[in-house]
Amino acid sequence: MKEVNISDLERKFEERIAAEIRIEPNDWMPENYRKTLIRQISQHAHSEIVGQLPEGNWVTRAPNLRRKAVLLAKIQDEAGHGLYLYSAVETLGADREETIDDLHTGKAKYSSIFNYPTLTWADIGMVGWLVDGAAIMNQVPLCRTSYGPYARAMVRVCKEESFHQRQGFEIVTTLAQGTAEQKAMAQDALNRWWWPALMMFGPSDAESKHTEQSMRWKIKRHTNDELRQMFVNATVPQAELIGLKVPDDNLTYNEEKGGYDFSDIDWDEFWQVVNGHGICNKERIEARKKAKEEGIWVREAALAYAEKRAARRKQAS
Ligand code: 3HC
Repeated sequence: MKEVNISDLERKFEERIAAEIRIEPNDWMPENYRKTLIRQISQHAHSEIVGQLPEGNWVTRAPNLRRKAVLLAKIQDEAGHGLYLYSAVETLGADREETIDDLHTGKAKYSSIFNYPTLTWADIGMVGWLVDGAAIMNQVPLCRTSYGPYARAMVRVCKEESFHQRQGFEIVTTLAQGTAEQKAMAQDALNRWWWPALMMFGPSDAESKHTEQSMRWKIKRHTNDELRQMFVNATVPQAELIGLKVPDDNLTYNEEKGGYDFSDIDWDEFWQVVNGHGICNKERIEARKKAKEEGIWVREAALAYAEKRAARRKQAS
């Protein structure tokens, strides 16, 4: 059997990346490339699923039927995004049950943003406007990520995220242009969600342990700080348009760089939350574990049905 020359395979892999040819599941890939994708895509999927919890908190308390219907549609979309991404992880050889168990045991991360509570209806507006706005900023470049299934999953996810961001901004605009109490509620929510939204983009480029390699493999197309800056530049004018104040006294437009200068992020808070010590971390994981336990009968019934159908087909053939 012909000796497999790894360096040849690596060279061909690098040539594909350089030529912007997507890497597909059956292509040879370096083990660390595969591991990085499993890590990032599985944590992305976990974020989508856990991200439903803060929103679910307001389904029964939405101010009217229209808001409730839109919120339900958004939450359903997030579930679909999670399933899409778990399927993309499986194309890399990861086992779905093990992947989900990694979330429940704390071995795998999910986005820090979902460990903050949704205290008022304005928070649901912020989750759409800021959280999904930040997610879009991060996910649009992922439509061009070098791994085929991930890039293709992102195309549909981004279309739906755009609706999420718009409905969130509409909620916040309605409040900001409503009564004084409603505007105060929107400003209070912006004060609580602004900095956690900036943390969604990850540690600074200087602190990020994965960015440099992920950029070389074209998994990432921009660095964490570049995407954070793009989000601030796009979002500050939106806040000003509806008369809300971004909670950062050092926020100033820098003509030279063509973007806003802003204060340093509280990285202690960021790592506290990432390492499991945020306001809602325990509650979120308990909710996911409970959902798995209470949903076992659904999975068993679906598997039994599938096995029965397969047996019937085999009998008929
Ligand atoms: N929350 C939790 N952990 C974070 C984090 C955050 N906001 N930012 C970074 N981290 C973790 C990383 O996972 C990594 O830990 P690990 O080695 O154990 O995985 C460590 O901190 C170092 O960070 P790096 O920047 O070096 O890591 P990455 O190169 O993976 O960059 C990322 C982090 C920018 C989040 C990148 O993983 C990414 O782009 N992921 C895909 C997008 C995503 O997951 N978005 C999360 C929100 S999804 C969402 O909001 C959907 C919406 O519809 C609700």
